[in-house]
Amino acid sequence: EKGGHDYFMLKEIAEQPKAVADTLLGRIDGAGSLRLDEVRIPPHELREVDKVVIVACGTAFHSGMIAKYAIEHWTRIPCETELASEFRYRDPILDHRTLVVAISQSGETMDTLMALRHARQQGAKVLAICNTNGSTIPRESDAVLYTHAGPEVAVASTKAFLTQLVACYLVALYLGQIRGTKWGDEIRTVIRQLSEISGAVEQVLETMEPVRELARSLAGHDTVLFLGRHVGYPVALEGALKLKELAYMHAEGFAAGELKHGPIALIEDGLPVVVVVPSPRGRSLLHDKIVSNIQEIRARGARTIVIAEEGDEAVVPYADHLIRIPITPTLLQPLVSTVPLQVFACELATARGNDVDQPRNLAKSVTVE
Ligand code: M6R
Repeated sequence: EKGGHDYFMLKEIAEQPKAVADTLLGRIDGAGSLRLDEVRIPPHELREVDKVVIVACGTAFHSGMIAKYAIEHWTRIPCETELASEFRYRDPILDHRTLVVAISQSGETMDTLMALRHARQQGAKVLAICNTNGSTIPRESDAVLYTHAGPEVAVASTKAFLTQLVACYLVALYLGQIRGTKWGDEIRTVIRQLSEISGAVEQVLETMEPVRELARSLAGHDTVLFLGRHVGYPVALEGALKLKELAYMHAEGFAAGELKHGPIALIEDGLPVVVVVPSPRGRSLLHDKIVSNIQEIRARGARTIVIAEEGDEAVVPYADHLIRIPITPTLLQPLVSTVPLQVFACELATARGNDVDQPRNLAKSVTVE
């Protein structure tokens, strides 16, 4: 049942190219436009949406953080992403023009369910992004976009996360498509690039041996830090969450720009710091800034583990370990940059003797508030 793998998590990591492709299947028509008729909120209602609020927990929350960048960029609709467990307690401002997107692999997470119930009581429309057919969250939502990751057994979410990202991009691009924004050409290009992304995920998986070796060499450490910017910031948080839950290590993710506001004091000799580098194309200003961040932490003794696009030569002098990912459109980069972090956490946890499918104190779905 583990398909020849030692753990479900390894099987599920390996299934990601297919999970991504399956989540796109039937949703892009021959002309390269999105067809999301299954989202039963009529286009005229979606055109009226003036705010998007995303609620989710854990890994699903990280996919929602990335969705915010995509939705605001392609639709120009203000979007906020909030931890489902915090949402209803602050009396959020919602009405019938608010689209609430609830993201959940299991569809049974109580915090997310309570947040969506609250949103509906206030008159907001709720769209669920969910991996489990017929579960409670989609049943209680106005509409659902299913991720087609297949059953996810390991407690640590991997393939569900990648498919949540795909679903979030689909929602962002679809809203952009039906509302018509100045990004029309870009939206068409990205839909095509998205349909090719499963091959890029496959390519990353084929080059993971050095990452596994590196992870094993770090098994004796107590702390690993993760840095990112823009969509790489939630990826850094996700890398840290994986390491906490599987390796029981102190792991923290930071927005690289925040380093100088405090966290840089944590840097000491030999501390492993993983840095997710944005593409040098497009957002080149961000790229240059993160390269100086890498320089700064290395000068203070950090052991730098740099995840950067192929052909990005600027990072080479400052990377103690360099993990290459394929060239990918800026907003889609999390689909490839997350994969090495999953492999890293899984291997490090295994090297520390932990059961990665059943980490201590955790359950696959959290049905209490
Ligand atoms: O089933 P859900 O997507 O609603 O679950 C949300 C979180 O509990 C979940 O993502 C959790 O953080 C994972 N164990 C992370 O790997």
